[in-house]
Amino acid sequence: MSRIAYVNGQYVPHGQAQVGIEDRGYQFADGVYEVCEVRGFRLVDERRHMARLDRSLRELRMAHPMTPKALGIVMRETVRRNRVRDGIVYVQVTRGEMRRDFPFPPDGTPPSVVVTARSHDTVKLEKQAAEGIAVVTVPDIRWQRVDIKSVALLPNVLAKQAAREQGAREAWLVDDQGRVTEGASSNAWIVTRDGKLVTRPLSGDILPGITRSVVVDLIAREGLGFEERPFTVQEAYAAREAFVTSASQLVMPVVSIDGRPVGNGAPGLIASALRRDYHSQAEFS
Ligand code: PDD
Repeated sequence: MSRIAYVNGQYVPHGQAQVGIEDRGYQFADGVYEVCEVRGFRLVDERRHMARLDRSLRELRMAHPMTPKALGIVMRETVRRNRVRDGIVYVQVTRGEMRRDFPFPPDGTPPSVVVTARSHDTVKLEKQAAEGIAVVTVPDIRWQRVDIKSVALLPNVLAKQAAREQGAREAWLVDDQGRVTEGASSNAWIVTRDGKLVTRPLSGDILPGITRSVVVDLIAREGLGFEERPFTVQEAYAAREAFVTSASQLVMPVVSIDGRPVGNGAPGLIASALRRDYHSQAEFS
């Protein structure tokens, strides 16, 4: 089936979709993005994703391409045209196209907007969740504002590739004090021996994951023990469970870290329960 992309006001065949070679996203990674889950043809946690996009744009003093409501319509239409039942919708906004020059282009330069959607391989994802994934740790070499969801993802690309080359699905990024910041494309969690869920607090060091925020709400609803604090790689090695959260993987159990089994080496009970119950806490639209 042919895929359709939305590019600056038009729906075009995916293979013909393009932005100019002097787009600032291409030249400077001067752009932001969102990845929103699609489930049963509906958007999951659209409101939170739109709020984070709004924040990313404001932090970078980038123009809003359209209202959140209009963007929601485009996202839904892109999902519809691509017949995505379960998958993701991707939104990218850049500071637009202009002759290459570092400072911002003149006011009024239209931002570039691209929206794409694609289906998950749900069988593969569920198999992964049932087996759990391996992660490896690598130094976090990113800039100090990774709370902004910018398309400047080169360190993440290198970390993922390092993971791939070691037979792992995700890389956990580690700060200069030996503490895990987050995954290359996910937030990182452990469950301690005494059953407390631990994840790093929000700051410039991590992306404020939407899935993370929903899981935090789910933990509160279920009355589970929760500590928002940094944890070290050593602590993660000794954890009872570990998992990652992201819009594309939801709650994904981690069964090994740097080749060492986590707990008994199988997906943990808490991670599996959070995955099972995730959508009861999410908002559909
Ligand atoms: N990644 N941390 C990083 C560095 C991420 O790139 C992501 C998301 C997350 C999780 O955020 P959320 O729960 O809002 O998806 C954390 C997306 C899925 C991606 O780049 O494909």
